[in-house]
This record gives sequence, C-alpha cells and structure tokens, in this order.
Amino acid sequence: MNETSREAILEQARQWVRKELERDSSGHDWWHIARVTKMAKRLAAGEEADLYVCELAALLHDIADEKLNPSKEAGLQKVETWLEQARVTQEDRTHIMDIISTMSFSGGQGKPMSTLEGRVVQDADRLDAIGAIGIGRTFAYGGWKGRLMHNPELPPREQMTVEQYRSEGGTAINHFYEKLLKLKDLMNTNAARAVAEERHRYMELFLEQFYREWDAEDAADV
Ligand code: ADP
Ligand code: NI
Repeated sequence: MNETSREAILEQARQWVRKELERDSSGHDWWHIARVTKMAKRLAAGEEADLYVCELAALLHDIADEKLNPSKEAGLQKVETWLEQARVTQEDRTHIMDIISTMSFSGGQGKPMSTLEGRVVQDADRLDAIGAIGIGRTFAYGGWKGRLMHNPELPPREQMTVEQYRSEGGTAINHFYEKLLKLKDLMNTNAARAVAEERHRYMELFLEQFYREWDAEDAADV
C-alpha cells in the first residue's frame, strides 16, 4: 500500500474518531486521542516502530472502550468493520485489533503487549494519564462521576464495602495512589520512561502542595 492511500486512511480515521468522541466527557474526548496520537508518533520515531500502524491504532484506541459501547465485543466489532470498509490490509487490521483489544480496557490489562507498536501506543496512552494533563483528567473524571476530590477521613480501602467505596471512596486524590503514581514503572519503552519521570515528579509536587493548602500549612508564618 502506498503513502498516499495510507494518508487517506489516516485522514478518514481522524474525521471518524473526532465525530464519534466529540461529546465524550469521561476522559476519552477527541483531544485525548489527538495527544496520544502525537505522543505515539514521537515515541515510534525513536523506537523505529511502524509509524502508520502506531498512528492508526492510537487514533482508534478508545473507540472500543466498554464505557462507550453496549459491550466490549460490540466495541471491537465497530472498529473491525471500520477497518474493513477503509480497506486497511488484512495484516494491518489483525495487528491493530490485537493492539486495541489488549490495551484499551480492563479485559486486556496486565497482559504484556505482543508487538513494538503495541508497546508504543500503550505508553503514549499511559503518559496522557500522568503529569499536568493526567491531574486535570483525574479531577474532570471525578466531577463527571459526582465524587469528592479528597476526603481525609476516608477509612482504608480494605475496611470499606464495595458500595461505600463507589459512593465515597473513589476520590480524585485516591486515584493517584491507585493508579497514577504506579504508571511510571509500567512504561515499556526507554523514551516513555524518561518522559514519565518528569511527569511523575510533577504529580508528587502537586500532591505535596495540595496537602499543604488543605491544612493551611502554607499560612503557618502569616
Ligand atoms: P484511558 O483508557 O484513556 O487511559 P480511562 O478510561 O482509564 O482512560 O480513564 C480516563 C481518565 O479518567 C484517565 O485520566 C484516568 O486516570 C481517569 N480516571 C479513571 N478512573 C478514575 C477514578 N476512579 N477516579 C479519578 N479519575 C479516574
Ligand atoms: Ni486512552
């Protein structure tokens, strides 16, 4: 397949995904996709991964998300159908479906990505969950769910029932400990690890300042 038809497919994907995710407020809006795609291309260049596969998989990675579909099978089928009508080659279709089904929702979590392109796109998605952007997305998600940003009187998770945790436990601050601060050590590529280090430090500084303000410690000398 030549460069021109690949670019035409990528352009068609951008338009479709933008339209599909335009109104999403759960953290999978079009601009998340745009950032992940940009990062995936940068990482791919450094890793000498297939740029076209990385870009196409990044563009499509959240379309099949369970939160946005009746089931994960339905979500994956939607992507598969789109790839066929766009005349993506059988080989690339299989590769892209493998990436998306492994990385994009809880079913695949924990399973290592089987190709370099998969590792690149997964890193790009994880990088968007940390740093300043990650902090912003976490608070936006909490607002969308109607949750508190922080509750210093929260009992340890083991002492809460599932219902209690759902209604009051899942604060934005809690999410840092459950997920965000762990992502740095889960990066696949060296380039992503370096970016993650800096974003991780930024989150630690944020938390430090957050607790200072929470307890008015920054006014201690006033
Ligand atoms: P993705 O698959 O793109 O990484 P997720 O569906 O896991 O996205 O989450 C979307 C955004 O919402 C991410 O920034 C994530 O950190 C945030 N998020 C997910 N679950 C929670 C939660 N329980 N509390 C706060 N933020 C959350
Ligand atoms: Ni994503």
